[in-house]
Amino acid sequence: MAPDPISRQTARQSTWHEVCRAFHLVDRTDLTVVHEHMPSGTAAQPHTHDRGRQFFYVLAGTGTMTLGRREVQVPPESGIEVPPRTRHFMRNDGDDDLEMIVVTTPRASGTPHVRDRPLGRDRGGLVVGSHLRQTRPSDLAAVVSFEEAMDTSPFLGQGGHDWHEQALQDPDLEHWVLVDRLDRVIAFGILVGVGGGDVVEIRRMVVAPEGRGQGLGRLLLRHLLEHALAGPRVRRVWLDVSADNTRARSLYRTFGFVEKPPPPDATLLENGVYMEWGDTHRIPSSR
Ligand SMILES: CC(C)(COP(=O)(O)OP(=O)(O)OC[C@H]1O[C@@H](n2cnc3c(N)ncnc32)[C@H](O)[C@@H]1OP(=O)(O)O)[C@@H](O)C(=O)NCCC(=O)NCCS
Repeated sequence: MAPDPISRQTARQSTWHEVCRAFHLVDRTDLTVVHEHMPSGTAAQPHTHDRGRQFFYVLAGTGTMTLGRREVQVPPESGIEVPPRTRHFMRNDGDDDLEMIVVTTPRASGTPHVRDRPLGRDRGGLVVGSHLRQTRPSDLAAVVSFEEAMDTSPFLGQGGHDWHEQALQDPDLEHWVLVDRLDRVIAFGILVGVGGGDVVEIRRMVVAPEGRGQGLGRLLLRHLLEHALAGPRVRRVWLDVSADNTRARSLYRTFGFVEKPPPPDATLLENGVYMEWGDTHRIPSSR
C-alpha cells in the first residue's frame, strides 16, 4: 500500500537545544527526511556520522555550514551534501529563521559522534568574532555558572544570581558580557565608579571555564580598560586579586597593573592584593 502524504502538521516532532524543532517526515533505517526549524542565532553541535551521507536543502533563511575546515553559506533554494565521517555543523547567523530539509541515508544511528574541543577552536576564532555588550537578565544563568566552575569561586568575593541582579540595577556599576558571533556569553566583567568620577575599579572578570587560556581574558581586560578610561576625569583604575591567583595576577601585570599598598578607600578581598594601572602604559592588544 502506498504511504499517505505527510506534512509538518502531521509529522512526529522533536525539539533540540530547547528552541530548534525537527519534523520527522520519513523515519526509516535506510532513509530519514527531516524538516528542521532553526531560529536566528542557533547552531548545531559539531559532529560526524560514521555511515550516513546527508543533504541539507534550505527552504528559507540562510544557513552557514561548517564542513571540515570550510565554511559555506547556503541560501534559500540551494543545498549542500555532507559525506560520511566529515565533521560538520549548521548554524543560523541570519536575522530570519532557517527552514531546511535534511536527508540522511542510511539513518544516522545513535548519538552523533561529538568531540569536545576547547571553546575558542570550536567556534572558529572566538577572539576575532566576539564583542562586549551590556549584560541582560537573561545572561545571568551563564554568568553564575562561570563563577561556580572549579578553580574560580575561591578567587571571587560575593556572587550568585541575586547579587548579579542587584548589580544590574546599581547605577554606579557597569555589568558587561563578552559574547561570540552568535551572542553566546563567553566571559563577563564588572566596573565600578564609571559614572563620572576619577577612580574606576575593575570589580570582577571571569572567562567561561572551557574558554580559558585562549586569549579571551586579555580581550576582556582590554575592553574593560577602554571603558574605564573613557570617563574624562578618570585618573586611577584599580583592582584587587587573590594573592594565590597566579593566572590573573600575571595577566594584570602584562597589562601594566602594578602591585601597590592599598589606599584607604579600597576594600579588598581577604587575601587580596591591590593593583593599579599606571597611565604610562599603553593598553596591550588582545593579539
Ligand atoms: C583570570 C582569567 C580571567 C584569565 O582569562 P584567560 O582567558 O584564561 O587568559 P588569557 O588566555 O587571555 O591569558 C592572558 C594571560 O593570563 C596569564 N595566564 C593565562 N593562563 C594562565 C595559566 N594557566 N597560568 C599562569 N598564567 C596564565 C598569562 O599571563 C596570559 O598571557 P600570555 O598568553 O601572554 O602568557 C580566567 O582564567 C578566569 O576567568 N579565571 C577565573 C576567575 C578569576 O580568577 N578572575 C580574576 C579575578 S576577579
